[in-house]
Amino acid sequence: MISARQLSKHFRGPGGKDVVAVSDLTMDVEEGSLTAFLGPNGAGKSTSLRLLTTLLEPTGGSARVCGFDIVGEPAEVRARLGYVGQKNGAGMYQRVRDELTSQGMLYGLGRAETRRRVEEVVEALDLGEVVDRKTMQLSGGQKRRVDIALGLIPAPRLLFLDEPSTGLDPQSRAHLWEHILELRHRYGMTLFLTTHYLDEADQFAERVMVVDQGRIIADDTAPSLKANLAGDRITLSVAGPWDGADAIVRRAAAVTGVSEPTIQATTTADGARVVVHLDSGDRVLPHLIRGLHEAGRLVLTADLARPTLDDVFLNLTGRSLREEGRHESVPEQPQTAGVPR
Ligand SMILES: Nc1ncnc2c1ncn2[C@@H]1O[C@H](COP(=O)(O)OP(=O)(O)OP(=O)(O)O)[C@@H](O)[C@H]1O
Ligand SMILES: [Mg+2]
Repeated sequence: MISARQLSKHFRGPGGKDVVAVSDLTMDVEEGSLTAFLGPNGAGKSTSLRLLTTLLEPTGGSARVCGFDIVGEPAEVRARLGYVGQKNGAGMYQRVRDELTSQGMLYGLGRAETRRRVEEVVEALDLGEVVDRKTMQLSGGQKRRVDIALGLIPAPRLLFLDEPSTGLDPQSRAHLWEHILELRHRYGMTLFLTTHYLDEADQFAERVMVVDQGRIIADDTAPSLKANLAGDRITLSVAGPWDGADAIVRRAAAVTGVSEPTIQATTTADGARVVVHLDSGDRVLPHLIRGLHEAGRLVLTADLARPTLDDVFLNLTGRSLREEGRHESVPEQPQTAGVPR
């Protein structure tokens, strides 16, 4: 569906400085797949989407989308894809229903099919109450749902969504995902989206690409990305001193076939806090607690943490995506063109 080779986009930043927004983007995206693009603010996610949807001309490289060249055949590309941008695209003065209808007609769906699709998306995105109002009278989250509805109307073969769920309340987010997955199932739609919600990428995308400073720095399934990390972390607090209990941890790991746990114990007011890094923590933990109990040691608390996509990003870049990604409730951030990150 998408085949990009060394695609790049440079902008002229303040003082004529060259800003590399996208650098050497090379990827192939299979028909019917769901890919999530993750990365901090300014990583180049939106610019990549705007290149692939022909809204921007690349500085270098090439790409074919739905079988057509993005530079040579932009009209062919546009006719086959849907795009929901990061900023609101819905018009201000039209009624929601009229806007959705014009969108269907623009895509050449015909009157009856357009009417059917409008009813479908209105229901899927809970727009029933606002469908006869003008976009300018809607709340931010309602406008966002209209934007997404506009992108979904043509049920395109390939749909790009730039932060579709940012600004939506949890219920609308859940509805949106239900509808996206349903459309995908029904039409075999290929989805390519950006999100700052790591849980969405983790749960729904079969492929996760992590972008930083215009480059793809990881590209795999979420489970593989997480599995490549150091593994799980068990944190125990025990009563009394830890002295010599490392052997109990090693034994519990060995019984489960897990090798080389790393163990760090620190003394606390009422005993010790022990952090164990290892694989398959879920299988080792019961043996560990039993072993400690049999050795007469009292376990006060036990916690198992598995790596998240945020740990993946932290491991790759030394920075947390979660902190940088929390921008939904913050006013629009100034563009950081030319500022070294
Ligand atoms: N029209 C433009 N002119 C100059 N610089 C731009 C322009 N559009 C984007 N940039 C710069 O390109 C870089 C990538 O921006 P982009 O919007 O693609 O980031 P993003 O990953 O979508 O970030 P966010 O998570 O904030 O949406 C940033 O440094 C940005 O400032
Ligand atoms: Mg963006």
